[in-house]
Amino acid sequence: MQTQKAKMVLQDPPFNVAINGHVCGSGKTKHKEFAFASGEMTDDQFIKFLETNFRLCASFSQEGSLHYNFMDWRHILHISVAGKNVFDSLINLCVWNKGTGGMGSCYRSAHELCFIFKKGNKSHTNNVELGKNGRYRTNVWNYPGVNSFGRHRQDLKMHPTVKPVEMLYDAILDVTKRGDLVLDSFLGSGSSLIAAEKAHRICYGIECEMLYIDTTIRRFQNIFKIDAVREKDGKTYNQLLEELKSGDTHD
Ligand SMILES: C[S@@+](CC[C@H](N)C(=O)[O-])C[C@H]1O[C@@H](n2cnc3c(N)ncnc32)[C@H](O)[C@@H]1O
Repeated sequence: MQTQKAKMVLQDPPFNVAINGHVCGSGKTKHKEFAFASGEMTDDQFIKFLETNFRLCASFSQEGSLHYNFMDWRHILHISVAGKNVFDSLINLCVWNKGTGGMGSCYRSAHELCFIFKKGNKSHTNNVELGKNGRYRTNVWNYPGVNSFGRHRQDLKMHPTVKPVEMLYDAILDVTKRGDLVLDSFLGSGSSLIAAEKAHRICYGIECEMLYIDTTIRRFQNIFKIDAVREKDGKTYNQLLEELKSGDTHD
């Protein structure tokens, strides 16, 4: 990002729950556990994990930037404490209604929460303005999740917690302008990157799992027909794959 700063952080941190058995795992598709916050952290460690991430995101974002972070109902306290320690205000709490229940022994989970924190007191971009711009939005977001029928079910094969691109696209349109920077430090399968590209915004992302970086690049290239390029030498992803296949690679 060099000296540039994000206007919006839009991300989905791991929830500190085991993926298999909690998020998915009852069907045919199995995924490995996330490397961090996959149920191994204590309450205090998880708060610290979120707080450290929020501080870093805040330092790479503008005054008045909005920080959208998804979380499940079990960790309302953790994210609230971490958010309060870093940000200046909580401007809203949105509920993603997935339409269909996922895992859960009594009540199946059909929602996730999206906490919207703000850095600083400077006013933020608001493209909704009570419907003035033709956008009618509420803090309940209805978008089918991966457990719904149809094409979204396919998404589960890529990653255990894929967010609908349409939902992220709408959130980006709500609070940024064309060309603004969106940051996602838990990129997963790249849903926010794809949403940002569709909205003509610039997305910077971080993902620690090589497999999901590949998933993101392939997904992005398939949709936009744009080659991913490695910055340090200008080689395309497909060129690097060819080199890997032929054994002609040093890194
Ligand atoms: C909940 S998923 C994000 C899914 C994403 N929203 C999507 O639609 O695909 C969280 C992601 O964060 C990654 N992750 C966990 N800890 C991380 C860390 N310390 N740094 C970077 N990525 C991390 C995991 O590998 C996982 O892919």
